[in-house]
Amino acid sequence: MEEKSAPHVLIFPFPAQGHINQMLKLAELLCLSSIQVTFLNTHHNHKRLLQFTDIRSRFARFPGLFRLESISDGAPDDHPRPSGFTFDFSKLFNMNSIMSPDLRNLLLSNTNTTPVTCVICDGIMTFAIDVAKEFGIQTIAFRTTSTSYFWALFCLPKLIQSGHIPFPVDADMDESVLTVPGMEGFFFRRRDAPSFFNVKEVTNPALQFFVNETFNSSKASALILNTVEDLEKPFLSQIRPNHFQNVYTLGPLHSLLNNLRIATTNGRDQIDFASSNHNGLWEQDRSCLTWLDSQPLKSVVYVSFGSIAVLTKSQLVEFWYGLVNSGYPFLWVKRSGGEYSGEDENIPEELREGVRKRGCIVGWAPQEEVLAHRAVGGFLTHSGWNSTLESLVAGVPMICWPHQVDQQMNSRVVGELWKIGVDMKERCDRSTVEKMVRDVMGGARREEIMRSVAEIGDVAKKAVRPAGSSYMNFEALVQDLKSGCQ
Ligand code: UDX
Repeated sequence: MEEKSAPHVLIFPFPAQGHINQMLKLAELLCLSSIQVTFLNTHHNHKRLLQFTDIRSRFARFPGLFRLESISDGAPDDHPRPSGFTFDFSKLFNMNSIMSPDLRNLLLSNTNTTPVTCVICDGIMTFAIDVAKEFGIQTIAFRTTSTSYFWALFCLPKLIQSGHIPFPVDADMDESVLTVPGMEGFFFRRRDAPSFFNVKEVTNPALQFFVNETFNSSKASALILNTVEDLEKPFLSQIRPNHFQNVYTLGPLHSLLNNLRIATTNGRDQIDFASSNHNGLWEQDRSCLTWLDSQPLKSVVYVSFGSIAVLTKSQLVEFWYGLVNSGYPFLWVKRSGGEYSGEDENIPEELREGVRKRGCIVGWAPQEEVLAHRAVGGFLTHSGWNSTLESLVAGVPMICWPHQVDQQMNSRVVGELWKIGVDMKERCDRSTVEKMVRDVMGGARREEIMRSVAEIGDVAKKAVRPAGSSYMNFEALVQDLKSGCQ
């Protein structure tokens, strides 16, 4: 009888913060379950991770179980990588030809290590599924977004066929798109659709890329989603079993990881969980925690637009006025690396004065710790999926200003389905910002929103406790990886 290999998983995230972040958490979860992991980054992000994150000592607890590898992203290290992509976006459509040869070599050169038995790749890097299959290696796709967004992508061909996309000229953006099978009864309007649905031509390369990657991901033998079964049931039932037989919902991953870390150390606080949660590609500025310590309970608005969004100068100024005029103290992440072009030129003195009086601005914050801080009472966010889940678990209501891709859908879910925040959508004039901040921080709506925050947060927290859906699904994943069958 052929001897079964010990499980060895290769994890391969898309080269952006919000993806690396989640997949590193999965890597640690697997190491906690004694599964060997090779974590594959692009050279550029590998260097940044080593520079800004104490990743080697974090994984030193798992001798022989964790190793980092890197391959080229097709550009020299000093090549400009715009915004938070930490990747040259022009190479997005050529990832296959750029990265497949190195991935193939890596899977071939299994020297010094046991053979890879499963590849868990980002669901938008499906060339890795094809490469793994050449070697007869099992594959799992990991989508880092919400299920609602993933499901919308599966609906796209039908929306195109039925003439809903491209949107008609002068279309009413507040109208629901309900006539397509599978979309009935839902509440998404045109303005809630993923940003790249609003194209002039259906041949648009971004649209084609996301649709192709979505359908290709079904070639994997299973799917991992960072979500909670009971919170996204209607969308999961569209995906399972039509597109995937086997779906492991493991969210909120950060919370599952924290629980399992505590469980595996028997509650002994041997690990510095705070710094272990830093997966960043930017240098973390922890001084904001000291600033938060000096602020009253639930008084601070935390402001962050994630790792990719770029604000125009006028958006920056409008947000700034809205925050200052709201009268609430604010902690604002203004990402370093030129996120806001000309950010401090000609900023009115009254805004600078507003920061001196009641504000704190940092380049990159320890977000999970910030959200869990007693002084934080609200989160002005771009509605990235990680930020949404982190805020939900921390019990912090959101003021959503979705920027791109999946975020338009996430903010609708937060505002209308879960009712744990308000959805500003594309509006960010100073008076709207001021009003929304006041409504969420202390207005008439806060009480009602906080009730939903507690209720929905509870569902998420239950899922990652023993016997909860994400907890059980993770156990099943580990068993399946160990027995070599997903
Ligand atoms: C985007 C998408 O919107 C998201 O849904 C997708 O899954 C990944 O790509 P991004 O702009 O990076 O994500 O936002 P988000 O998903 O919220 O992730 C940002 C991460 O960076 C969060 O985990 C957050 O905790 C972390 N972060 C952000 C910090 O640690 N410090 C900061 O100062 C800002």
